[in-house]
Amino acid sequence: MSHDAIIKVNEAIAKDALVDKDKAAAMRAEAEKDPETFWAGVAARLDWSKPFTKVKDVSFDASDLHIRWFYDGELNACVNCLDRHLPEKANDVAIIWESDDPGVDKKITYAEAFEETCRMANVLKARGVKKGDRVVIYMPMIPEAAYAMLACARIGAVHSVVFGGFSPDALASRIEDCGASAVITADEGVRGGKTVPLKANVDKALEKAPDVRAVLVVERTRADIPMKAGRDLYWYAEARDDVSPECPAEAVNAEDTLFILYTSGSTGKPKGVLHTTGGYLAYAAYTYEMVFDYKPGEIYWCTADVGWVTGHSYIVYGPLANGATTLIFEGVPTYPDASRFWRVIEKHKVNIFYTAPTALRALMREGDDWVKKADRSSLRLLGSVGEPINPEAWMWYYEVVGDSKHPIVDTWWQTETGGILISPLPGATDLKPGSATQPLPGVFPAIVDANGNFLEGACEGNLVITDSWPGQMRTVYGDHQRFIDTYFKTYPGMYFTGDGVRRDADGYYWITGRVDDVINVSGHRMGTAEVEAAIDEHPLVVESAVVGFPHDVKGQGIYAYVTLHATDEPSEALEKEIVETVRQEIGPIAKPDHIHFTPGLPKTRSGKIMRRILRKIAENEFGALGDTSTLADPGVVDALIEGRKNR
Ligand code: WT7
Repeated sequence: MSHDAIIKVNEAIAKDALVDKDKAAAMRAEAEKDPETFWAGVAARLDWSKPFTKVKDVSFDASDLHIRWFYDGELNACVNCLDRHLPEKANDVAIIWESDDPGVDKKITYAEAFEETCRMANVLKARGVKKGDRVVIYMPMIPEAAYAMLACARIGAVHSVVFGGFSPDALASRIEDCGASAVITADEGVRGGKTVPLKANVDKALEKAPDVRAVLVVERTRADIPMKAGRDLYWYAEARDDVSPECPAEAVNAEDTLFILYTSGSTGKPKGVLHTTGGYLAYAAYTYEMVFDYKPGEIYWCTADVGWVTGHSYIVYGPLANGATTLIFEGVPTYPDASRFWRVIEKHKVNIFYTAPTALRALMREGDDWVKKADRSSLRLLGSVGEPINPEAWMWYYEVVGDSKHPIVDTWWQTETGGILISPLPGATDLKPGSATQPLPGVFPAIVDANGNFLEGACEGNLVITDSWPGQMRTVYGDHQRFIDTYFKTYPGMYFTGDGVRRDADGYYWITGRVDDVINVSGHRMGTAEVEAAIDEHPLVVESAVVGFPHDVKGQGIYAYVTLHATDEPSEALEKEIVETVRQEIGPIAKPDHIHFTPGLPKTRSGKIMRRILRKIAENEFGALGDTSTLADPGVVDALIEGRKNR
């Protein structure tokens, strides 16, 4: 199928959908004509303990940057996700938990989720956690992870979830950066039949971050682990039963912080992306319902981890704010075998399924039988997120997983955007395999050239958003200047996404990938500078330069050029040591695929590394290196090409 193939909206689907073409057009028109009324309508879907009268106060001008939405209103995010559904949905299933072990699962009603969350909130309170305090959550994919997030929200504390695959060092730096006073973790995680020593990692991290006063440990495996008296507390054995099952919710201002989530940038250490309560929740709830065309009673499954923004917005906040049933999956796509995803869909009669291109590509390789032998008749909508989906993987998803019956929503967004910005609406948007299609109503993207000139019609350039939407991040925690510099200085007056994009003659957007020094490995965002800093920790390394390269399954792989002290010889053992150093500094997701030892890096006379050349060589594109005349030592390039060819 060619790139511009179109799959038209199915009429029967459009008839049942919340939004059809006419409705979408009307929404777009309203959002354009009167954005404040439009967004006030969106926010009205939430319960406000004090209704807002002010809708929007935004300036993208770097000298006066501010972003506020619904800012005289008060609400509580946990109340909006749990309490308000209780009158009608107390006995409806809020969470289906599918454990790593295919024989073990659990259904949790809204009433149960409410009670568990209230209890956890009371435990946090009893340990001195107050409104505004930061709590780091370092958890496996178990329901208690959602309770932990909602418990923080309930008492006005700020959660910062750290992905359970991050190393103790990476965890420590996040705990320190946000100044957390408490950590919620589990004894161990379980993934793909193996255990992950979460509590042991926390212990190591806290050697470097001693300000944490309380560690709440959820028993997942009941492994025998050291507990530090006065600091550590078991959830089930010591805490849960001693507190009340009710906990009053703290009403917070719409602009009070809901969470901080660390993500990689092109320079320096990861930044704490800060989201506030009213705008974020309204936006997550609105986009969840629209994009997934969610209808009451449906079973929805997003395979992301709560450690990423997708887990925040589309496992926890978006679905629960809509009273949906959200499936939390502890395992991996290939355990016990490559049929796992489809078996889970069969078992729990999943209607809406949302996953990442990297998982699809990995499963596609295993052959169609794994899919076909599972009953997927419950499915009606498929989603993709995290990186560009190549048309081949898109077609496999459509034809094999979806039997050519179900729309695919390819959702483009970022940690910073809080929710989906560009995506098809299943009842309204004709699909093109590989395109995220069009902006949602109320979202105003544009494409600019390197000088910031707007490009019109069919074009290719850099993706910016010209006006705010409620789910937009508000600041980088502790470094507002970095927020301004990163997103609002490159193209004055606009939010710069860091992504490249093409727009076709039908106005469809095709994201081409990052244009900054960020790479996307299996849908995980990685700063090249961060990986370099980790590599440079190895005592024999003088210098390193990391770039992405196309990878069949991961989308992008990590390619590291490394120079050693003149006296040291490259070796396989050294290569392993360097990879191990990265694992320790960041975690397994940052491990380089290639270590390319080189006596020198291509630098300009002023000492700047020419990454463009390194990228081309890693991509095996030796013919298109561009101008190398400004290099201090052009000979370096030939040596690098030779080295690449020999790999
Ligand atoms: C970057 C954001 C969105 C939540 C998960 C990742 C890339 C994300 C798509 C898509 C093409 C995509 C972009 C973006 N990306 N979704 N549907 N098509 N690219 O969040 O870690 O903040 O990464 O992921 O490059 O900038 P994130």
